[in-house]
Amino acid sequence: MKASVRVLMVCLGNICRSPTAHIVFAQRVLEAGLQERVRVDSAGTGDWHIGHPPDARSQTAAAQRGYDMSALRARQVRARDFQDFDLLLAMDENNLRDLQRLAPPEHRHKLRMFMDFADLEERSVPDPYYGETQDFQRVLDLVETAADGLLRHLRQQLRE
Ligand code: 4NP
Repeated sequence: MKASVRVLMVCLGNICRSPTAHIVFAQRVLEAGLQERVRVDSAGTGDWHIGHPPDARSQTAAAQRGYDMSALRARQVRARDFQDFDLLLAMDENNLRDLQRLAPPEHRHKLRMFMDFADLEERSVPDPYYGETQDFQRVLDLVETAADGLLRHLRQQLRE
């Protein structure tokens, strides 16, 4: 059987950053024809927005670049995610710390910062929730760059 990889994008609310990363990376995977080998999902460490669609400001910023986030619904990270996914990618340091606290020790090696895959100075995707329109556009800039880097990384891994 061909190798495959399952990726979970994680932020705090699962209504701004991680659903943006989810939809952008899923689009990259589709364009690369890897949809049978790379699975993408997203979740939040918090429980406030369970069942909610992505924030309207995220949806607008994404739609301006051709991404449709409207079908996504927020969910919280669950214990099974640490088994079910090969890579759990945190949007910021707080998300990473929360994941490290929740993860069974044998799965901690799966936790990374999403921005590790971008060749940029930034370590994290800043929380735009209390920000302005431009902060949501900035999320997309960072997410698109990291998604490109993650696809390159996984292509190499899937070839090995
Ligand atoms: P996200 O943004 O973690 O990128 O989805 C947030 C969404 C909601 C809240 C904080 C951040 N909140 O405090 O409700």
